[in-house]
Amino acid sequence: MNSALAGNTAERAHSKPRVVLGVTGGIAAYKSCTLLRLLSKAGVDVHVIPTPSALEMVGKTTWEALSGNPVYTRVTEGADSVTHIRYAQEADLIIVAPATANTLAKVRWGLADNLLTSTLLAATCPVIMAPAMHTEMWLDEATVDNVAALRERGIEIIDVATGALTSGDIGAGRMLEPEELADIVLERLKATRDFEGVRIAISAGGTHEALDPVRFIGNRSSGRFGVEIARAALRRGADVCLVAANVSADVLAGAHGAQIRRVESALDMQAAMREEAGSADIIIMAAAVADYRPSQAGETKRKKTGESLQIELVENPDILAELAAHRGREGQMVVGFAAETGDEKASALDYGIAKAKSKGADVLIVNEVGATTGFGDVDTAITIVNGEGKILSQAEGSKSRMAQHILSVLRERIN
Ligand code: CTP
Repeated sequence: MNSALAGNTAERAHSKPRVVLGVTGGIAAYKSCTLLRLLSKAGVDVHVIPTPSALEMVGKTTWEALSGNPVYTRVTEGADSVTHIRYAQEADLIIVAPATANTLAKVRWGLADNLLTSTLLAATCPVIMAPAMHTEMWLDEATVDNVAALRERGIEIIDVATGALTSGDIGAGRMLEPEELADIVLERLKATRDFEGVRIAISAGGTHEALDPVRFIGNRSSGRFGVEIARAALRRGADVCLVAANVSADVLAGAHGAQIRRVESALDMQAAMREEAGSADIIIMAAAVADYRPSQAGETKRKKTGESLQIELVENPDILAELAAHRGREGQMVVGFAAETGDEKASALDYGIAKAKSKGADVLIVNEVGATTGFGDVDTAITIVNGEGKILSQAEGSKSRMAQHILSVLRERIN
């Protein structure tokens, strides 16, 4: 793994906020040295990604010395750990200062021709860009259009200041001063950590119900949604325990920083969640829990008999309903999922609303699933309803974006 971003679980859980400082090829690059120093002084772990042309303004050695972290500019550097994806996943915020007209245009169109633009393309955290360029370039229709499109997409483009420009002219196009930029970054960082001090217990994955020592009844859940929620919650400052049922190591890696408890069956999960409920402010049951388990799990491998086989199944406890009925703490919020398929009688949403009313949870996330939708690394459409089945919000997108969205809805509902 890339040593720049490696961190063991315990370290990450209480680590400093991480900011990627992207530097593009403008003269104002030298001012970003001050920005870096101010952020470091404020306790931020800064990783600098200069574009190749930015290195002509300020060299790699300076960035490395000031940040205390290695500096890369190309995607191929640190390719073993897929540096741009790591940077994009680990950053709490990215600021590009200065941002040239060229980089604004590239980001607008999704180009990924260096480590910075690739990282920006993969980023899910807040992105701030502080442009610096000559007045004519700033006012050119193309730049105006790019800035508008980027703002529309949620990227914060800082307005340029007016003053003396490198060319000797006076006009709009100066990058904001590093002190002002540092204040903006620190303010935004504070807002991104809106779950600081909140403990969340999340279940994820699919339970395995043993038939014998080698066989089980399982389901198609990858655990990705629960892991995405854990990851987003960690990034927003929460203290997270993830109770993971049969989640593969590569999916689980997304939740590093969380306390991980591995479980196999519904009964294991029930025991783990009961324990976690004692200290959790929020419980999220994202796991696909098997409704039934074989009444007896043989101690030895079952042999073929040539006859048809009947297996008796007994019902598993409904963990969500139990946790909702017996709160581990006062004021605890209990959140469930309803993975539904619609049929000729009712839609997936109708079934989800009915489930919300029956489970006693405070919030239920309804998502439609099928053989090709809902499971694994695919986009998902969710409807968030309250315990009475009232729709609170509807959204669609990648699981990581949906995880952020869910947390924002929950945030509004906790004190
Ligand atoms: N759940 C649970 N314990 C179970 C079954 C489900 O805690 N034994 C939780 C899931 O983690 C999820 C919610 O209940 O948060 C809904 O799960 P789902 O499988 O959609 O519904 P079921 O309650 O199993 O109902 P059904 O299968 O009849 O639709």
